[in-house]
Amino acid sequence: MVKDRKKRLLYSEEIIDRRVKELADTLSHDYKGKDVVIVCVLKGAFIFLADLTRYLGISYVVDFVRLRSYGSQSESSGIVTVTKDIEVSVEGRDVIILEDIVDTGTTLVYLRDMLEKRNPASLKICTLIDKKERRLVEIDADYVGFDLDEGFVVGYGLDFDERFRCLPSVYLIEE
Ligand code: IMP
Ligand code: MG
Repeated sequence: MVKDRKKRLLYSEEIIDRRVKELADTLSHDYKGKDVVIVCVLKGAFIFLADLTRYLGISYVVDFVRLRSYGSQSESSGIVTVTKDIEVSVEGRDVIILEDIVDTGTTLVYLRDMLEKRNPASLKICTLIDKKERRLVEIDADYVGFDLDEGFVVGYGLDFDERFRCLPSVYLIEE
């Protein structure tokens, strides 16, 4: 049972807040004067987006995309579909994809290729967590909050079968 799984604190609220502010400072520096579109990948990145954007010292627009990777719970398969596309044009603009976690990389490769076809001026990836252990396709995030060697994490937007998303800290689900 999911609800019986033990959770171990991995990144506290304070640690996350400090790191998100650092990322925002870096982005504010790198994107000063640019025409920025932040593409938030739903649902997992919504809390990260809310915190990060409030620390940004630049102007930007936000839009949302939702992708479905077939499979459930902690496993993702290779088949990705878009269930909600962004609504703004990214042509000639500087796009930052905001993700909660990169795991196999399948979802992000699909999204990156889809947005590349729309001719943005630049396209970069910012992820709260980079989990390289199960990477199946070649993709590197440009901005990374935390590197995670292995394990399944929840909280701060991340879920396990829709549970634990709104916990303020990130926890590792123990086997
Ligand atoms: P990928 O296509 O395998 O890289 O899957 C990425 C998506 O799987 C993420 O955007 C998450 O929604 C989900 N995911 C992967 N690992 C975790 C995890 O440890 N906790 C919660 N969700 C995860
Ligand atoms: Mg996600």
